[in-house]
Amino acid sequence: MNHEEHVVIERFERGWLVFGIGMIVVFVVLIAYTMANFGGSIPVGTQRIDPTKVRSEGEFANPRIEQIGNEYVAYVQAFAFGYLPAEMRVKKDRKVTFYVTSPDVQHGFMIERTNINVQVIPGEVARVSHTFRKAGEYQIICNEYCGLGHANMISKIVVEE
Ligand code: CUA
Repeated sequence: MNHEEHVVIERFERGWLVFGIGMIVVFVVLIAYTMANFGGSIPVGTQRIDPTKVRSEGEFANPRIEQIGNEYVAYVQAFAFGYLPAEMRVKKDRKVTFYVTSPDVQHGFMIERTNINVQVIPGEVARVSHTFRKAGEYQIICNEYCGLGHANMISKIVVEE
């Protein structure tokens, strides 16, 4: 091997070395980002859950809305095709926090005449809050296509004076 060939090969190797180190840096940054966002700390709005246990274990096995002090907390199952609880009742001007998850496929949780419109992804718990200022009935609808019963996937929340 003459000197020039040697230099070319070294440059080639250095190129791959730089590429390799670059990829390691990229991976470390990605892993750090993932851990910061999805690891030990739970990001605001979502947390992880085992979708196969939604119906049998934990808060969602007992779908309900309950009053805690001046507020409400609701644990809602969005499933093919409906919601549990099928109907909720609250008093107006009280904050309502909804935790919503799915035991099967992706659904939506949209409450008409509010800004609540979230994707419900199996394996994740969506959290949204709303204070209803006007009494009345609000339909809850699924806006993610989820199968043949999608159009019938509705429930409601009744807001009382
Ligand atoms: Cu559930 Cu569409």
